[in-house]
Amino acid sequence: MRLSFLTLPALALLAASTAAHAAPDPLAPAGRWTLPERTAARTPPMGWSSWNAFRTEVDEAKVLGAAQTLVDSGLARLGYRYVNVDDGWWLKRRTDDGRLLVRTAIFPSAAVPGGDSSFRPFTDRLHAMGLKAGLYSDIGRNACSQAYDLQSPNLPEGTTAEREVGLYGHVDQDIALFFRDWGFDYLKVDACGINVYAAGAPIVVQNDYRAFPPLIDQASINRTDVPQVRSLYANVAAAIRRYAPDGDAILSLCTWGSADVRRWGKEVGHLWRTSQDITPSWTRMLHNFDSASTRALYAKPGAWNDPDMLFIGHGDFDARHLTEARSHFALWAIINAPLFIGYDLRGAPKSLMDIWSNADIVRVNQDPGGHQGVIAYASDDVQTIVKTLSNGHKAVVLFNRGLAPATMELTAVQMKLAADAPITLRDLWTGKTLPVFTGETRFDLAPRETRIFEVSGTRRLRDGMYLSEVPGDVNVAVDGIIEPEPDPVVHRMMGQWSGTRDTGERPVYAGWGGAQADATPYDQTLQIAGRSFDTGLGVLAGSRLEVRNTRAATRVEALVGVDDSTRNTRDAVEFLIYGDGRLLARSGTRRFGTAATSLSADVRGVKVIELVTRADRRTSDLPIITTWGEAALRGGAPR
Ligand code: GAL
Repeated sequence: MRLSFLTLPALALLAASTAAHAAPDPLAPAGRWTLPERTAARTPPMGWSSWNAFRTEVDEAKVLGAAQTLVDSGLARLGYRYVNVDDGWWLKRRTDDGRLLVRTAIFPSAAVPGGDSSFRPFTDRLHAMGLKAGLYSDIGRNACSQAYDLQSPNLPEGTTAEREVGLYGHVDQDIALFFRDWGFDYLKVDACGINVYAAGAPIVVQNDYRAFPPLIDQASINRTDVPQVRSLYANVAAAIRRYAPDGDAILSLCTWGSADVRRWGKEVGHLWRTSQDITPSWTRMLHNFDSASTRALYAKPGAWNDPDMLFIGHGDFDARHLTEARSHFALWAIINAPLFIGYDLRGAPKSLMDIWSNADIVRVNQDPGGHQGVIAYASDDVQTIVKTLSNGHKAVVLFNRGLAPATMELTAVQMKLAADAPITLRDLWTGKTLPVFTGETRFDLAPRETRIFEVSGTRRLRDGMYLSEVPGDVNVAVDGIIEPEPDPVVHRMMGQWSGTRDTGERPVYAGWGGAQADATPYDQTLQIAGRSFDTGLGVLAGSRLEVRNTRAATRVEALVGVDDSTRNTRDAVEFLIYGDGRLLARSGTRRFGTAATSLSADVRGVKVIELVTRADRRTSDLPIITTWGEAALRGGAPR
């Protein structure tokens, strides 16, 4: 094309029309559930990992010892099947053919005569025990231990090139090796290689690493190349599909909550870390828990928020701190966190084994519905979290975060149960059923104590489900966030490495403003024109939610409007309901201050319902906060 013929306005028009052509309307109904239908990790992955137990000082005897204990103790039968080798396993990358070599001094079964190595005998052994095998890599050229564990005896060796053990530039080769040749079932992919190896950084200079211009700045989402990070991980996912085509392989994304992974992790991996590393400290556990607990709508079968592995057995969660250890476990269970034991299982005391092997609590975590627990009450002191179980019951956690005793009321309303019908609680630590009550009951909690119950009662919504009760059936396809912002609702703990030398912990994990169950995207009470809702979905305008009609509901309904907490009080929005891609209902224009309007649609026979909130003629980028109050699916299969 000879551009010289075109006038400037014509050029602008051309640019606009190509742009419009290139970007399809993200709010147009998809007519289907757009997340990959995964067969792996339908419930949160469970097992053991070497990292919290041994850091890089992992070896075959330690791993097989853990594996044997999983089998002998019955933990494997409960679901703890993945045995994951974390950082520390590698010796080098052979430079003539790029093949990775295992450090056979610590994994002797991997030695192959002639200097080669293979993890195949090791994974065969685990598989013969009925277990699954997991391995660890990095998305960049170098791993985390090469920056943070410089005293380790198990760092990769050799020249600069030989020490480049990460996936960068070797995705196809390494993934073929891990899955096709070595038979692994699970891969955790860390991100230090694209984070801490900047040119001129002391670590790079002193250790003669090749520099990698950082794609992630953990302190700044603006300085993070989100699309690039995502695409590197998507390439790994695609390679796994090539070399483990049965769909049973699991990909764990480890960008520590950075790069906005809390939004897109579900589209690329089976689990994604929502925060930086856990440590065996109470306040760190709070931090990690908070990074995942507000993200219920982002987790579902095949895709889980990962607040990091369990640290039970160490520090604040050791056998002398069983209250804390039990809290850590119950909290991870109710928010559908992956359950990876991080303890040397060869010598685990019974008191700890009793925690991991609480079958009732594991069942809460592994419920097939995959509905992450939703926060029903929150303060900095105590929290109530309620999770829908597939047997029609609820699981409830009452959590005392602090160092003072606390009295907590638990109400029928919080559990979305009828206030006038009997409610039964079974204590999942003691197995005892408590006296029946109606309306509300109360508990005294010791400092840092967590009570966890299975609850039966009469549902408040007798012929349906509120959508906030079934987050596992909701996919936040488009969340309406224009510029990602760090999430401030995460416990800020004292620096574990820096103490109080720096200015303290700042909010860093993008995702603030994402869709929420039973709260607005910015964690306010749902409220439209003065009317508040104790249930509903809070979502920004410019969003599209997909809802799977798993129970063959016949109606969808909600009371919709601009939320009173909106930051943009001027612009108008419209709410639309689609069924399998067909427009079923629309609200007409709604503005800040207009009363909630009822929107409903007949969804008989519909497989995927889409809830769209449009604001097509905005005058500013300020978020318009909207509420689908009391959003519910009615009719359908009895529950
Ligand atoms: C960290 C990661 C940890 C562990 C460690 C290994 O980045 O978050 O879970 O894998 O690297 O060096």
